[in-house]
This record gives sequence, C-alpha cells and structure tokens, in this order.
Amino acid sequence: MSLSITSLASIAIDLQSGIAHPDRFARLIRTLRQLLGSDATALLRYEDRQFCPLAIDGLAQDVLGRRFALDAHPRLEAIARAGDVVRFPADSELPDPYDGLIPQHSDLKVHACLGLPLFADQNLIGALTVDGMNPLQFDSFSDEELRLVGALVAGALNTALLMEQLENQTPAAAVVPAARKNDGGEMVGLSAGIEQLKKEIEIVAGSDLNVLITGETGVGKELVARAIHSGSARAANPLVYLNCAALPESVAESELFGHVKGAFTGAIHHRTGKFEMADNGTLFLDEIGELPLTLQAKLLRVLQYGDIQRVGDDSSQRVNVRVLAATNRDLKQQVLAGEFRADLFHRLSVFPLHVPALRERGDDITLLAGFFCEQSRAKMGLKQVVLSAGARELLHRYDWPGNIRELEHAIYRAIVLARAGHPAGELVLEPQHFQLAEVVPQTMPAAAADLTPGVDNLRQATDEFQRRVIVQTLAANGSSWAAAARQLQLDVANLHRLAKRLGVK
Ligand SMILES: Nc1ncnc2c1ncn2[C@@H]1O[C@H](COP(=O)(O)OP(=O)(O)OP(=O)(O)O)[C@@H](O)[C@H]1O
Ligand SMILES: [Mg+2]
Repeated sequence: MSLSITSLASIAIDLQSGIAHPDRFARLIRTLRQLLGSDATALLRYEDRQFCPLAIDGLAQDVLGRRFALDAHPRLEAIARAGDVVRFPADSELPDPYDGLIPQHSDLKVHACLGLPLFADQNLIGALTVDGMNPLQFDSFSDEELRLVGALVAGALNTALLMEQLENQTPAAAVVPAARKNDGGEMVGLSAGIEQLKKEIEIVAGSDLNVLITGETGVGKELVARAIHSGSARAANPLVYLNCAALPESVAESELFGHVKGAFTGAIHHRTGKFEMADNGTLFLDEIGELPLTLQAKLLRVLQYGDIQRVGDDSSQRVNVRVLAATNRDLKQQVLAGEFRADLFHRLSVFPLHVPALRERGDDITLLAGFFCEQSRAKMGLKQVVLSAGARELLHRYDWPGNIRELEHAIYRAIVLARAGHPAGELVLEPQHFQLAEVVPQTMPAAAADLTPGVDNLRQATDEFQRRVIVQTLAANGSSWAAAARQLQLDVANLHRLAKRLGVK
C-alpha cells in the first residue's frame, strides 16, 4: 500500500484544522499512525542537542518524560544528521531508544524503524520516529511520499510551536520561556498543577517582585527559583544562593552583608556578603523559615530601604537585589507562633508561589520516573532502563513524602539493584527493586489509627507521627542517625534537620 493523493490531502487538512486544538500534537500523531500503520510513533522536538517527546502513540507513557540526548542516542543522532528520510535496517546495530517501551510487545525489539527529520527553513526543529514490529512494514512507502509527510508535519509543528510561543507571551517570556529553558534543570511535568506553576513563573519572572516559594521538601523549589531568575531581566547577572538553615547565628550577618577588616576578632580581611555578590541579580534565600529573628529584622531593613551595612562599617551601601525565598515550613504558622516576623513575611510573600506535592501531580509521577530512568541510563552507560507495569503501579500508589527528590533516589537505587542481576545493561525495573513497601500507605492505617482520635490539627498530628517514627527507627538502629536515615530513605542531613525541627534531638 502506498499513500494516495487523497490520503495525503486528508492529513494535510487534518493537520491544519487540528492546529488550534490544545492537544494538537496528540491528534497529529494519531493521524499518522492511521496513515502509516505503525506500532509506535513519536513526535519529538529538537532543542539544545536533545530530542524531547511532544506526543507519543503506542509507546509507554513514561516516554513523554524522557529526554533523548543526541550524544547518548546514535539512532536519533543519525536522524538529526541525515537531512532526509532515514530507514534503519532491521538488523541495525544502533540501539533503538524505544526498545522495551512498546507495551504490546515489551520483550521484542523494534524491527522496522523510520526517522523523518523535521525542518523549518534550514533548521532542525524536530523529528518523527515511526516504528513497527514487522521488518517490512514501511517498505511500500517511497522516500518521496515520506518526505512529503515529513514536510507536512514540519509545517504543522512549526506553526504549533509559534502558537505556543504566542500563547505564553508575557514580557519576560518574550526573551526566555523560563520554565522550559534547560539550564541545569528542566521542569518535567504536564499535570494541571505544574502547568499552572509554569504560567505563574513566567508572569512573576517578568516582574521584579520578591517571591516566596513554598512547598514540601523535594518538590523542586530550587528549580523554580532558578527558572524565575533565568526568565527575568536579571538573568545575565548572578543568582546567589544562601541556605539559612546552614548558618550559625554568629556568622550569619557577615555572610549576608559582609564585614570589614577588623570588625571582630578574626576578621583579618574584608569580606563580601551575599547581598553585594547578588547586586543587580537575584539572591535566593533557601529555608528562610530558619533565619534567626535578629537577622529577620536586618533582612527586612534591606528589603525596605535597599541598603546594606557591612559588619563593622558605619556607612551603608545601596544594593539592587531581588530576593527569592523558599521554605517547606508553614511560615504563617511560624508568624503566629512568634518565630517569624509578620512584616517580613508580608514583604516576602507579595507573590507567593506554591509548588504542588508529587502525589498531587497525577501522571507526572510516570513522566518523572521516565525522565530519571533515561537520565540514569545515560549516566551509567546502560543500554535500556524500563519500568514494568507493576513498578509503574507501585510508584503511583506510593505517596512520596520526599517528593521528586525521593523519586529520583528511588529510581537510582532500583537501577543499582536491578543491574546486579543484569550485566548486559538492559534493565526492567520491577516492584521488588523499590524498597517503598514498608511506607506505602496501605501499611500505614494501623500505625495511624491510634493517632486519629482527637486529631484536629493535621500538621501537629503529622509531626507527632514523624516524631514517633524517627524515635523508633533510631532505637531500632542502635541510635545511628546514618542507619536510620538509610532505612527511612532520607538524606542524613535532612533527617537531622527534621529531627531538630520536631524536637527529637
Ligand atoms: N519538575 C521537575 N522535573 C525534573 N526534576 C525535578 C523537578 N522538580 C524537581 N526536580 C529535581 O528534584 C530534586 C529536588 O528538587 P529541589 O532541590 O529543587 O527541591 P526543594 O523543593 O528545593 O527541596 P528542599 O525543600 O528539600 O530543599 C532536584 O534534583 C531537582 O532537579
Ligand atoms: Mg531546596
């Protein structure tokens, strides 16, 4: 069977009419599957030497979260380089990025594979990959026909990308689409919560407001701060990081504002404070809830008057700094408890941004799992890493108190475990590779039940529960914090911090 004029005309019309639709890419890919009779089809966008799936059909859902670097994928690299239709022979040595990711044929390798690079003017903007299980599946299509399909899809993709840019147009987004920029951390996720967050980031990035970023531990607050900075007019200037929790009160002031030589015993040199370093840029104050009250007063002063005083210096100095602050604590609660200044809270939270917990992000769990599988695969030089259906389900059921950081570590650990039995490097992650079982919600009710009577404050109840778990785990591990942290799958520093906050230490 080859493509008739009518079928080509119908995809042209279909592509054009679908363009205004929000899931335009998904429609496009469905049309192509019908047209080409493929088992798996993916539309990929090309940017920064990597391919990012925009829509998939016939492939595991987690493929949407995978990012395929050219350097790690010779097959995609060949498509990017070719400038024309590429047909891979069935016995091609080049690994297929989708091996094991076609759910209907999970144990089979891809046999027929076509790649169509997509161009706008002379620039590569994407690729279409078309895979089939039958080696001869696409032989009936001529190169000319496939080229024509490629040209139609490229046109539709280009228009769609332009439209997307227009839709996201805010003053700052015109310069950098902040949330999409891949400078050390793309924000993977398509859930409503994360789409909303990306919009808010683009809006707030363009303003010069201070921003308070809230959310549980490991949700990506730092990533949000970086996205705001890189989407702002200050992007070319420094983003300076300061963790308020790691600051002993005695050095905190000089850390923030600097000191002059001789300011105190041991001050043998001038020292530049973080505020000065961030001049004309952004200062990211992480864990702002831990900032001692005395320093809160000094910080407030800078935010009000825009000038700083170095320790030991009578004169003050003007700085132009935008402050982004983050916390996983309930600052309002802290204000009520007298631990955080109300006036500082109001200054900082002119534009509050809340980062949703992973358990509230629905299928983002799958996407992020795919993202981390592919990332670890490339880093560890493995051939393929896929999730079994059981593993995907387990990841969905679990409630991720440590959020994305916990997921990242869980995937990494699962890979290490799975690799032990598979030196060939083609790994299928199964439920038993994840050690989440003991904390999966199903096992919780018994423990939680005795807490529920009289619970009228979820936060307090949760704290109490965590306190008990930590105490018990410590006892079970001979008071070793490191061992307890391992068992609880927490970073040991985070466990210390949590214990400190809960008053266990
Ligand atoms: N949407 C996302 N897509 C991909 N990776 C993400 C995403 N969000 C977070 N991450 C990754 O998860 C890890 C934790 O993120 P981050 O350090 O920003 O969390 P956090 O909210 O600052 O946590 P904490 O409160 O513990 O400081 C990082 O490795 C980050 O790159
Ligand atoms: Mg952080």
